[in-house]
Amino acid sequence: MPILRPWRPADASVLLAASADPELARQLGGRTFDDESAAAAFIATTYRFDGHARNWAIVDDGDGDGDGVVVGNVGVTAIEHTHGTAWTSYWLTPETRGRGLATRALVTAADDAFALGLHRLELGHRTNNPASCAVATRAGFRAEGVERDKLRYGDDRFDVETHARLATDPAPNVTGLRSVVSDA
Ligand SMILES: CC(C)(COP(=O)(O)OP(=O)(O)OC[C@H]1O[C@@H](n2cnc3c(N)ncnc32)[C@H](O)[C@@H]1OP(=O)(O)O)[C@@H](O)C(=O)NCCC(=O)NCCS
Repeated sequence: MPILRPWRPADASVLLAASADPELARQLGGRTFDDESAAAAFIATTYRFDGHARNWAIVDDGDGDGDGVVVGNVGVTAIEHTHGTAWTSYWLTPETRGRGLATRALVTAADDAFALGLHRLELGHRTNNPASCAVATRAGFRAEGVERDKLRYGDDRFDVETHARLATDPAPNVTGLRSVVSDA
């Protein structure tokens, strides 16, 4: 059964391998890691799990004991307590896409964020990323509008559609993943 848990330093080798996928490298801010220690540093500084960010490793974990293989990330970041807002994002390794895992992970991460008292969770996807749009919509994040030319990758600029889910929005009909925070 897949689960969510905080990232661990030992996940660096998986992150290093995963970042070879150009789609994912883009999601990581156009970053490629030189080696495992660079990936470990990224986990320590960016894939944090604290009061400002809750980044969940998506783990394909046959027996549910937390020792499975990391296959993706779903993050609730830029947590802002004054307004009760945060930003969400997600990725999966190419071979684990198409199983609805990102949707289930996003639902769980959102439930966790709402349980902490946040009210509004936002995300944005390039308008030429229909898989991400489908994940957002199925996880109950309503489309709110398109920001033109918001992102630049190389020489190309991309329109971005923003979605948001409020704590008061109807819950989607999706079974989330079990989350384990004991090692946070
Ligand atoms: C976005 C991402 C997490 C979605 O992965 P996933 O959960 O496996 O999503 P799926 O492959 O099940 O696709 C979701 C839906 O989009 C549809 N879809 C996928 N690719 C599509 C395409 N090129 N055109 C139209 N629809 C597409 C799928 O058919 C599916 O809909 P369905 O279940 O109704 O058939 C994954 O593609 C990924 O990691 N991409 C790289 C990182 C990224 O883009 N992250 C999001 C940044 S905003």
